Amino acid sequence: MSEPLLSVRSLSSGYGHVLALDNIQLEVNEGEIFSVVGANGAGKTTLLLTLCGHIKAFAGEVRFDGQDFSRIAAHDAAWRGMVMVPEGGRLFPFMTVMENLELGAFHHEARKRMSQTLDEVLSLFPVLADRRDQLAGRLSGGERQMCAVGRALMSLPRMLMLDEPSLGLAPIMVDRLFDKVQSLVQNKGLTVLLVEQNVGNALRLCQRGCVLDHGRLVKVSTGAELLRDPEVQRTYMGV
Ligand SMILES: Nc1ncnc2c1ncn2[C@@H]1O[C@H](COP(=O)(O)OP(=O)(O)OP(=O)(O)O)[C@@H](O)[C@H]1O
Ligand SMILES: [Mg+2]
Repeated sequence: MSEPLLSVRSLSSGYGHVLALDNIQLEVNEGEIFSVVGANGAGKTTLLLTLCGHIKAFAGEVRFDGQDFSRIAAHDAAWRGMVMVPEGGRLFPFMTVMENLELGAFHHEARKRMSQTLDEVLSLFPVLADRRDQLAGRLSGGERQMCAVGRALMSLPRMLMLDEPSLGLAPIMVDRLFDKVQSLVQNKGLTVLLVEQNVGNALRLCQRGCVLDHGRLVKVSTGAELLRDPEVQRTYMGV
């Protein structure tokens, strides 16, 4: 067995005196989509923020791609291949679509390959080519999400962490976005850590996933197993 791309040991994290993640153990394999499920406030966003160095962990160990990420700084994590698309995308609203995309290619290697990556991103999301000179703040919710994912791809990530990418999107846009994510995984060998409010969709899309409850990891299993789990169905899918 090869080493997992991401491995998390005894990770605790939070805000000041608030413990939001308690002793998390997790492994994500290269080339898989891994979903994180949990109620509001369960710690999903905190997990992503801690992994990519936006929040300092209280304790524990994170390894990514054979490197120690336990005390990584956010900019360091990004150029080493771990990139988060935060909730709502956080584009620069007064910059154009193209300027936002170019900002994604912030490190040397990504700069060097920028025009090729840009072509790939625009063929993946043709709507961004049509809107290239439009201010990002004037995009629709779906277009904004595509632009945010596109910007993240511009930095040539190994692992993309998506926080609620379907928030506010019409069902057809959600399907489209998830199709794109799946094609990136299949064709580009990308690894995805997905936090998604639509639990059914997320579990159908992923190979494996986990359930967080009040900052604790309570289940890790395949997507199919979790979909069949009566407790998951009752608690997170309203079945
Ligand atoms: N900036 C902050 N300062 C203090 N506490 C915070 C902060 N952000 C989150 N928390 C707390 O940490 C816990 C986990 O929050 P987190 O945002 O990770 O949850 P989540 O699972 O992403 O929820 P949601 O589904 O609502 O996005 C919650 O109890 C929350 O109140
Ligand atoms: Mg959240």
